[in-house]
Amino acid sequence: MSDTYLRLGVNIDHVATVRNARGGAYPDPLRAAKLAEEAGADGITAHLREDRRHISDADIDGLMDVLSVPLNFEMAATDEMQKIALRHKPHAVCIVPEKREERTTEGGLEVAREENKLAHFIAPLRDVGCRVSIFIAADQRQIEAAHRIGAEVIELHTGAYCDAFAEGRMEEAERELEGLRQMSTFAHSLGLEVHAGHGLTYETVKPVAAFPEVRELNIGHFLIGESIFLGLTPAIQEMRRLMDEARA
Ligand code: PXP
Repeated sequence: MSDTYLRLGVNIDHVATVRNARGGAYPDPLRAAKLAEEAGADGITAHLREDRRHISDADIDGLMDVLSVPLNFEMAATDEMQKIALRHKPHAVCIVPEKREERTTEGGLEVAREENKLAHFIAPLRDVGCRVSIFIAADQRQIEAAHRIGAEVIELHTGAYCDAFAEGRMEEAERELEGLRQMSTFAHSLGLEVHAGHGLTYETVKPVAAFPEVRELNIGHFLIGESIFLGLTPAIQEMRRLMDEARA
């Protein structure tokens, strides 16, 4: 695969959200993951939250068994999650901040303040071969800290850009985008692989996909929502098309 190819990671958390609204077994996140693979996803992302509000431990077991593409396992920096990751050894681990009361992952991880703790936390994950990524805001201090603790990848939080765009605050959206652009270049100059995600839609994906340093986008909520109208396969294929168009 060329080193300018932009990977699409499809996050299937919210298939599990719909399943869990009723309990029971459907819609099945594993079926969604396999379909996403067939539709062109380069990876599957799943976030096992401390409160198990969407993805369950059994979902992670199942994903590890059935996937042909890499699993990007999102998790908080807790002992419980570290044990689970060390047991499964997924291709990638993305460390995200997590607060029980939040609706979604609202901000990036505070790496600069927790540098020592995080360095110790990720070392065993790297030792077993997981590609460790840190989910952070487009902030030079956090990027430098992520680099110092030995992360190979940073994922830039695109939520502030997407929220400003969705609410029609276009100057702010432009400012956020410019910050993402500059910090992608900066992180790349340190030798970090750059990913991005959170809140991306058909309307907001292209400017981010066009940043040459960005190698992977992780997209979930919008795609699962859009699949109600289009079906999962066409919803993913349209995202892929927009990414390719932006990259061309
Ligand atoms: N990347 C990370 C690190 C995330 O935590 C999430 C949300 O779980 C996403 C990407 C995907 O965000 P969304 O579901 O808004 O597309």
